[in-house]
Amino acid sequence: MRLQIAAANWKMNTTPEEGLKLFEHILNLLSTIPENRNSRVIIAPPFTHLHIISESIHAHSKNPRFSNLDISLAAQNCSSETKGAYTGEVSSEMIKNAGTRYVIIGHSERRSYFREDNNCLARKIDRALENNLIPIYCCGETRQERSEKIHFETVKNQVEEGLKHISGEQVKNMVIAYEPVWAIGTGVNATAQEAQEMHAFIRKVIAERCGKEIAAGLSILYGGSCNPKNAKELFECPDIDGGLVGGASLNANDFVEIVKQLKR
Ligand code: 13P
Repeated sequence: MRLQIAAANWKMNTTPEEGLKLFEHILNLLSTIPENRNSRVIIAPPFTHLHIISESIHAHSKNPRFSNLDISLAAQNCSSETKGAYTGEVSSEMIKNAGTRYVIIGHSERRSYFREDNNCLARKIDRALENNLIPIYCCGETRQERSEKIHFETVKNQVEEGLKHISGEQVKNMVIAYEPVWAIGTGVNATAQEAQEMHAFIRKVIAERCGKEIAAGLSILYGGSCNPKNAKELFECPDIDGGLVGGASLNANDFVEIVKQLKR
């Protein structure tokens, strides 16, 4: 079975101190649930928290009580540049050095508020891979695109253009997240049927580009108003390999309830 992932995207929430507390609360709750060898939990806090949470993961990994947990850290963004005079940017090398394994690239909030287009995102993916970070590449259509019935075309363009520089072998080391923009933070999730249909489509686009075997091994996460009530039905779908969770990941109990719904 493909790796099943529950990823917490905290967005621009919590101070470092609050974030560490939330992380440790999540960790304590996770240590009480039965082990799922096929799954991984990823926490994506703000940049300012990466180092202290990485240290906490390291410290807990030495404690037998937490030895069964598979937890990794993600950044929420990275620069499309390598280094130099880019005030305010954070490079993949810096992120990697802070003890981080993944980086979210192309979240719809980056695409819409910060005008990041597929070209810029393809360069970010290059920088991430050069530094051995695993990109979690996000795609998803707006409400309008769905109502105009161009949602498949939109997502296909995002996937093909975002991955245009990279080889099939590199796609093996990626995660894709389908996040319909109309479902993010709205309380209205895609139905399991809508999400499954798009996940199967994304897998087909990857198969055409990289071959069936690589597509079959790729974890594709669903994001958009994922919560403890809808996670089970979504995660049961054959092409949905877990979730990228926003709001509900800021509540330790809710997030761990979602983790419990990953396929076993
Ligand atoms: P919500 O879970 O708050 O809808 O956010 C989803 C998201 O954007 C995760 O990246």
